[in-house]
Amino acid sequence: MRSGKVIAINGNMVTSTFEEKVIQNEVAYIVLNENLRLKAEVIRIHNEFCDMQVFEETNQIKVGDSVEFSNELLSVVLGPGMLGTVFDGLQNPLYRLAEETGFFLQRGKYIFPLDPDRVWKFAPSVNTGETLKGGMEIGFVNEGIFDHKIFVPFNIKEKCKILHIAAKGDYKIKDRLAILSNDSGKEYEINMTQTWPVKIPIKTYKEKLLPDTPLMTGYRIIDTFFPIARGGTFCIPGPFGAGKTVVQQTISRNALVDIVVVAACGERAGEVVEVLREFPEIKDPRTGRSLMERTCIICNTSSMPVAAREASVYTAVTIAEYYRQMGLNVLLLADSTSRWAQALREMSGRLEEIPGEEAFPAYLQSVISAFYERSGLVELYDKKTGSVTIGGTVSPAGGNFEEPVTMSTLSVVGAFLGLSRQRSDARKYPAIDPLISWSKYQEQMEENLLKTRSRTWVKDILKLHDLLFRGEEIYQQMMVVGEEGTAMNDFIIYLKSYFLDSVFLQQDAYDDVDSFCSEERQVKMLYVVKKFVDKDFTFKNKDEARAFFMKLIGTFSRWNTEPRESEEARELEVEINKMLEGVL
Ligand SMILES: Nc1ncnc2c1ncn2[C@@H]1O[C@H](COP(=O)(O)OP(=O)(O)O)[C@@H](O)[C@H]1O
Ligand SMILES: [Mg+2]
Repeated sequence: MRSGKVIAINGNMVTSTFEEKVIQNEVAYIVLNENLRLKAEVIRIHNEFCDMQVFEETNQIKVGDSVEFSNELLSVVLGPGMLGTVFDGLQNPLYRLAEETGFFLQRGKYIFPLDPDRVWKFAPSVNTGETLKGGMEIGFVNEGIFDHKIFVPFNIKEKCKILHIAAKGDYKIKDRLAILSNDSGKEYEINMTQTWPVKIPIKTYKEKLLPDTPLMTGYRIIDTFFPIARGGTFCIPGPFGAGKTVVQQTISRNALVDIVVVAACGERAGEVVEVLREFPEIKDPRTGRSLMERTCIICNTSSMPVAAREASVYTAVTIAEYYRQMGLNVLLLADSTSRWAQALREMSGRLEEIPGEEAFPAYLQSVISAFYERSGLVELYDKKTGSVTIGGTVSPAGGNFEEPVTMSTLSVVGAFLGLSRQRSDARKYPAIDPLISWSKYQEQMEENLLKTRSRTWVKDILKLHDLLFRGEEIYQQMMVVGEEGTAMNDFIIYLKSYFLDSVFLQQDAYDDVDSFCSEERQVKMLYVVKKFVDKDFTFKNKDEARAFFMKLIGTFSRWNTEPRESEEARELEVEINKMLEGVL
């Protein structure tokens, strides 16, 4: 064990001497006494000393305290049992930690992330004599609703022969399941776990593919107007209180993916507590059981030390990549990435680096790109595909998007779902503003979209999007010249745009029925909405026009919230059709 001595302390930054060598990003422990060792990461190396960021409060650290270098990069332990668990940024399982130390978490207390005593039913899928390399499967255990594959550790690059493989049966995570040997006779023992450095992407797959399949979220405005691709990226920037967290939580519940990983970098401590309390109670609409069974939460509050906050998004994305390796579709949601960027800024400040815009480090853009680039649809060694889709919220101060974190994020993501204060103040939820949002995936996914939608789908959406712009323009004019000064034709265009917005773009996240709109229903609804938009109406006067559209919106809104197959829903549909034919 290499060691050193503390020579300076500045907030979470501790400077230490070292013997022989030190490795960039290696984990080190500061030893306060026999029972208290604080975890830290080496972030800068000088000639004779190095700077480390400590993942804990640094009070009581003294000059002269000894430091132990671990020889390992900051890593996570991967294996069965991560689903249903809440970890902190360093992968401490919070519920088990609380059981051991009480609810006031103790400093310097780290416990193994996975339950070492839990018994899993392992079934081998290979035979002795076969050759494998890192990232290939040796067997699986059942984890909740999935088969959790056990892999040859990803860091084994060379082909290895299987000398021994365990028989089907009950094993604990640390029990030996296989022995492999490479050409030069070096042997590896494999159990259900492996460790992986969080800042290095897992790349044991055949190739990365262009994301071309939609990921349905159940939000009409997203799926129809600004679609997200499986394996793609999106961001949700918006001012405080505009509904970013609500949108993310609805997506985590409803999105058609196998696994959800949530990185909760809370704005306030209370928010994370809410996540912890609410999540286990959310029912999975697909299985009817707790959503937690296919969810893994990594959480930090802004009151936790910066370094732990910085680590949490890497821990989360590594876990997401690991499940992708099993051929699953994983969704990673980071809320909020601004808190993460602030952690970077604080650390950079302590290192006295030359600051960029708004004191964020000059490398902010490259750190943000590197994070989103870990998303992707990949073809695995067994020819199956898996995906990691990454969505992050951004909370720019005052809701001004012209700031470094929003701008850096915008330049790398494939879809931008911008929330506006104007819409949230008007309680138009979700407050995703159709006039500023965009998605690059509509065209990229056209072929797959058209399989389930009309041939003119992409063109239709563009036209409806134009209607929203036109409606806003007329609305702005009307604010100046009044309703009387507005031509009848324009007034009807405005009403059509208002109608499209009210019944299609807006959606109640708290309504049991409306909160999730299936693809089939979105297609059907859009078909009906478009008929009204395309129809040439003649009204006697503006009052009549307004009354017609208000009634239509009322009927449509009720249709949105009635249980889909109910008698009421059918009657409302009939009524809507009659309104279209001018019978009512
Ligand atoms: N889709 C929605 N439907 C109804 N109310 C919403 C919706 N989105 C947000 N809200 C309201 O706005 C509040 C703040 O939302 P939140 O997601 O916490 O904002 P942010 O994360 O942007 O700060 C919520 O507590 C809720 O009352
Ligand atoms: Mg929030």
